[in-house]
Amino acid sequence: MPPYTNRLLSLPEYPLAKIPEQKRQLIARGVDVIDLGAGDADLAPPPAVLDRISAAVRIPTMSRYGFALGLMEYREAVARFMKRRFGQDFDPLKEIVPLIGSKEGISHLALAYLSPGDYSIVPEPGYNSYLGGSFLSDAIPYKYALRPENGFLVDLDNVPPEILKKSKILYLNYPNNPTGAIAPREYLVEMVRRCKELDMLLVYDNAYSELAYDGYVPPSIFEIEGAREVAIEFHSMSKTYNMTGWRCGWACGRQEIVGALAKVKSFIDTGTFMGIQAAAATGLDDCQEWIPQNVAAFKERRDAAVAAFCEAGFPCVEPKATMYLWLPLPKNIPSAVFGERLLQDEGVIVLPGSLFGPGGEGFFRVSFITSSDRLREAATRAGRVLKRLKAQAGDESRPVRRPEVSGAARA
Ligand SMILES: Cc1ncc(COP(=O)(O)O)c(C=O)c1O
Repeated sequence: MPPYTNRLLSLPEYPLAKIPEQKRQLIARGVDVIDLGAGDADLAPPPAVLDRISAAVRIPTMSRYGFALGLMEYREAVARFMKRRFGQDFDPLKEIVPLIGSKEGISHLALAYLSPGDYSIVPEPGYNSYLGGSFLSDAIPYKYALRPENGFLVDLDNVPPEILKKSKILYLNYPNNPTGAIAPREYLVEMVRRCKELDMLLVYDNAYSELAYDGYVPPSIFEIEGAREVAIEFHSMSKTYNMTGWRCGWACGRQEIVGALAKVKSFIDTGTFMGIQAAAATGLDDCQEWIPQNVAAFKERRDAAVAAFCEAGFPCVEPKATMYLWLPLPKNIPSAVFGERLLQDEGVIVLPGSLFGPGGEGFFRVSFITSSDRLREAATRAGRVLKRLKAQAGDESRPVRRPEVSGAARA
């Protein structure tokens, strides 16, 4: 057999890869598992979406190849959503690309813009397709540590100028997975300005644009003046409509940028099942009244999780958006150790920050994807593990086993 490519070998282990097997083993042992790992809620899609797909599967033309065009109705529904929600006009044919989930599009876009040896600027912790797309393009991700000290924002002034010069893509994701952070509008204005100045593509991942609380309304990057010149934005049906497994999303931006993604995709895939696109169009057009009650369900869970984890000894910042809590650990308890003990001793699945790379150390992620009661139970169990590990660690002033990260982590 030929050897694997360096490209393949450069890929780290996918953070969620081991969880299903670990979960299966625990359940087989009779453990009452609480899974707060993936951002994959136990809630149902809107009834109108379910009705639409039931009908669509019986229409023979829906079962044919969608090709790059896909279902025109979906493109038009996306354009209407972008107009209604963000006041932005997009040509459904030229400025929107239907995706098999936004992950697919984010990863493939890199093939259009990153050449071997180029850099991309990747927030760490962050969603893995920024890293994956960069590695699969033989580019070099420059990992920038998102820490509380920097408001979980990437500051390009902390990136060495020689790296900035070679960087072709800046990935930004606000509301942010996993930190739950949001970006001030002035920050987005500055990022658009800097990307223009540096001739860098701004890839804005807006998967959580509709999952926000307490009156916060996440913007589109295209609300920022000049963004059309430098940005492409990714959206997902997954989180807004509880349709994670359906694999449906879109990218939008000016034709030159989205067209490059569409061209890559035309050699890789033939589109999401058109019945799914039809159902997604129904979601976008007809389920505006359904969204607030779904967000309210997440808010109830967020409130329960914040209260319970604070009570259990994890000082929390209440996230204004997303389905995640990013919880700090005492300095002398490595997140991987905490995650493993919580899994093995108490049957609770969370994501240790170190799974996202050194920039995530010192934290763990909880997804509020299950009922408030189960979240409270998980917090109680996590509190027990924390107490035991603290007792074992003894003197908390022991040297901290933290990675060397200040503003930016090394590439
Ligand atoms: C920040 C972020 N971007 C993109 C995605 C991918 O979503 P999709 O299901 O549309 O591929 C996720 C999924 O968890 C995410 O958290």
